[in-house]
Amino acid sequence: MNLVYPGSFDPVTYGHIDIIERSSKLADKLYVAVLLNNNKNPMFSLKERMDLIKSSTSHISNLEIICFEGLLVELFDHYDLQAVVRGLRAVSDFDIEFQMAQINREMNKEVETLFMMTRLEYSYLSSSVVKELSSHGAKINKFVPPEVYKAMKEKEKR
Ligand code: PNS
Repeated sequence: MNLVYPGSFDPVTYGHIDIIERSSKLADKLYVAVLLNNNKNPMFSLKERMDLIKSSTSHISNLEIICFEGLLVELFDHYDLQAVVRGLRAVSDFDIEFQMAQINREMNKEVETLFMMTRLEYSYLSSSVVKELSSHGAKINKFVPPEVYKAMKEKEKR
């Protein structure tokens, strides 16, 4: 079974890496698909986001990092994929995730979505929270891998 884990990953956090590690164990191959979302004005460029995922997941062998633009379901036309993986942190994630899963299946009946509960210690974690904390000088090194921490500090210096 090949899975795709899509997201903005701006930047990748330990919460994402936990889902990547756990879902890669279930998959023959896991594609991490990074959305080129220019309208969201990301902190990191697409290449930077992909590079940061790559350097923090080098211990996982059945992983490929790809990018996409437009609709997630279109990836199913280009790759041999069986399901989408998404992490669920709290009940507050459920509404939007339920909607996305239903819309994706509406557009392509073959598209299944598998939800993985995040580990409790990451249940409050998000890229936005990490960026917010970091911009106020809070310590974020327990939320993101060292290379992401370094890249964020470099961005903030500018
Ligand atoms: O990390 P995020 O921002 O929660 O990821 C959201 C993402 C990228 C999975 C979602 O926005 C997405 O799939 N966007 C692509 C556009 C699309 O397919 N939309 C239809 C589903 S609502």
